Parts: sequence; structure tokens; C-alpha cells
Amino acid sequence: MIAIRGATTIDRDCPEQIRERVKELLDEIALKNGLSDGKIVCIMFSNTPDIRSLYPAKAAREAGFYDCPLFSAAEPGIDGSLKFCIRVMILAEITASPLHVYLHGASVLRRDISQCINIAIDGPAGSGKSTVSKILGKKLNILCLDTGAMYRACALKCLNEGIDVSDAESVSELIVNTDIDVGYTDGTQKTYLDGKDVSVEIRKPEISMAASTVSANGSVREKMVALQRKIASKTSCVLDGRDIGTNVLPDAKYKFYLTASPEVRAKRRADENKQKGFDTPYEQILKEIIKRDEQDRTRLIAPLTIAEDAILVDSSDMSIEEVVAFIENKIQEKI
Ligand code: DC
Repeated sequence: MIAIRGATTIDRDCPEQIRERVKELLDEIALKNGLSDGKIVCIMFSNTPDIRSLYPAKAAREAGFYDCPLFSAAEPGIDGSLKFCIRVMILAEITASPLHVYLHGASVLRRDISQCINIAIDGPAGSGKSTVSKILGKKLNILCLDTGAMYRACALKCLNEGIDVSDAESVSELIVNTDIDVGYTDGTQKTYLDGKDVSVEIRKPEISMAASTVSANGSVREKMVALQRKIASKTSCVLDGRDIGTNVLPDAKYKFYLTASPEVRAKRRADENKQKGFDTPYEQILKEIIKRDEQDRTRLIAPLTIAEDAILVDSSDMSIEEVVAFIENKIQEKI
């Protein structure tokens, strides 16, 4: 069991704002820490004595957190303490390190973790982006957003519905009415398609090319980019993709472009596939990687390209550990 801390403030003592801010705080803690499926053991609140109109615990219950014991207590009035502040401690059955959340005026309590850091890692298929991002996310104790997974989920939906992924009009129509989302369980991203966890299914080799084709569609990109920006604006994360530094977060402070020769990338993908139980021949993977690179680089909207201010990392002759160490050093230099 772990303890997760959080706090927020309100502008004035009114029940509506207490409801809104308590829900926002709990939703954010739940998203960051993957607190679904009855993982919360209990939620304990305290609030400064200037809050009198609603118990935060009652607001939490109204926000849907009713499957666990809730508790509220008023703090003594301490000189110099924050005004209208609600603090929370959640005990939860998870194994990952807790990610604490401090919102609004309460961010001054933990300036170290309240700063939202976004790290963009772009690059072609098999360049090691997702492995590097996951290790980096763990080391920095921040989330890791695999944006390719979202396009893969869109492709899966098209295949499930028998829609040709290159039929722009039908794909646009389908995706407008499709719900794609991500969540986190013990720090690992889960990708949801219309509420169903498709994290394993989207890794099938036949989804890769379909995802590349679907990702050239303007309506698809608009919807996915909006979701990616929403997540990145709320929480520190490492985002891996094709257009993060150039299009999704052009103002990101840390941008990297990871690449390697097509042969090295194909070899990595073949080894990865073998581990997952897909025995695709190396030659076929190499051909597909070259074709997918070409498609991702030449599409009209947000093609795969190196952002002007991104740091280029050619990992052909580097181990994963060396790439992570290189990126970590560059981040340290900029902090
Ligand atoms: O990273 P991946 O192989 O899971 O991505 C699958 C496809 O999704 C990729 O070929 C292009 C597309 N994609 C994209 O267009 N923009 C992103 N930010 C991420 C992926």
C-alpha cells in the first residue's frame, strides 16, 4: 500500500467550487496513479478553517468516490498558512511510486513537482522511442504518453468495422463517433477503444501500416492531437510520436529526435516481435519499415520531420542505456 498526497485551493468558500476543485484533484490523482478498479483504500481530507460550507469528503462522495471510506477534518488556523486550502491523503493498493498532485494556489507547497515538464521524443518506427521514453518516465517519475498507440487504436476500429483505412471520408465519419482514451495502471499506459482495453491488440504487426495510413487523415489527427495536448497540459510527461516537437507541443522545452539505420530498426522490431510471439521475417519487417517511414515522412499533415530545436540522437551504435543517459544529461543541462 502507498500514500499519495495532494492539495488544491478555492477562491472563496462556496459549495460549487469545493465540489469542482475536489473532483478535479481526485480525478487528476486517479489518472496519474492509475487508481481504478477499487484500488483506493481510503481518502482523508483536511481543510483550512476558512472553509465551512461543504465537507470535502462529501464533495468526493458526490464526485463518485463512494466505494471507499472518506474522512474530513478541519485544520487549526495557523498564521501564514495558505487560505482556502484542501489537502488530501489517499491510501491505495498500487506498487508504482506515488505521483503527488498540487493544483491551483496549492502548487506553491510543492514547487518541485508542480512544474509541468513535457519531453518530446519523435522518430521513425523502431528507433527505440517507446523503450527510451518508458525508462526516462520511470527515472523522472513522470508519465509516459505513447501517442502512436492512439493512432493504432483508430486503425483497429477501422479494421473491426471493415472500413478501408485509406478511405478518408469513411474514416473521418467513423472516428468522429469513436471514443479513444488512455489511462495508467501501475505507471503503465493502457489504451482504450470505446471503453475497451485494446493495449495488447493494437501491437499486432498488421496494425502498424494501417495506423500509419489512418494517421494521415486530418480528422483523426485533429482528435488525437487535442487529446494529447489536454493530457500534456495537465501533467508532466514524456511523449513519444512523430510530430510532438513539430506540431503537438512546438513549445516543449525538451525535444529529441531519435533515429537509427533502417536495418538496425528492423532487427530491433524483429526481436521485439519474436518476444511477443509474432514470427515475422526480418526482410519483410525491413520492407515495411522503409514503406512506413516514407508514408509518415511524406504525408501532407504534420509529417515526420526533425524539429529545428530538437536534439538528434542516432542510436544505431548505442545501447538503450547509453541513449537514456545521453537524453538525461541534455535535460539536466537545460534545467
Ligand atoms: O509509434 P507507432 O509505430 O506505434 O505509430 C504508429 C503510426 O502512428 C505511425 O506509423 C505514424 C502514426 N503516428 C503519428 O502519425 N503521429 C504520432 N505522434 C504517433 C504515431
